[in-house]
Amino acid sequence: MKKSLGYLIITLLLISCNRSEKNKDITELKNSEETSINQSSELKASMERGKIIYTDFCVTCHLPNGKGVPKAFPPLAKSDYLMNNREESIKSIKYGQSGEITVNGEIYNNVMAPLGLEDDEIADVMNYITNSWGNSNDKLITEEEVSKIER
Ligand code: HEC
Repeated sequence: MKKSLGYLIITLLLISCNRSEKNKDITELKNSEETSINQSSELKASMERGKIIYTDFCVTCHLPNGKGVPKAFPPLAKSDYLMNNREESIKSIKYGQSGEITVNGEIYNNVMAPLGLEDDEIADVMNYITNSWGNSNDKLITEEEVSKIER
């Protein structure tokens, strides 16, 4: 009985040490409010997964620096379309995008086929592209949000 209580205390100590270590790291990353701690670590993990998806599925057209190719593939870096049309952008990735769109004052009229990604993968890649190359989006995109977006 005594022995197991000892183990319990040690375990609890270990857990609490571990936790404060983790929180310290995250706090250094962003600010100290509890909700933003949770969000920033979630965002970081999502962006890491999103970067892998970007490299596998998007980089050939939109390029590693997100700048795209003039007249052919629109930029994602500092794209007004992407940053001001969250829902439309998710729709484009989910179902494909064709026809005329204007991105940063340039007209594109090309085709992006649907990429066959799952909703959680779309959320991850959106979190990556809306927070890279000078883009910044403080509202985490979730699998649930993506799942609700219909054609
Ligand atoms: C085969 C080339 C190609 C691939 C691969 C591709 N795209 Fe696109 N993307 C395009 C084209 C072309 C358009 C514009 C379509 C149009 O003219 O209507 C576009 C448009 C977009 C847009 C909206 C316009 C903008 O610039 O903000 C987003 C967001 C986007 N793509 C994200 C992605 C993501 C994320 C991936 C990978 C999961 C991806 N694309 C893969 C070619 C591609």
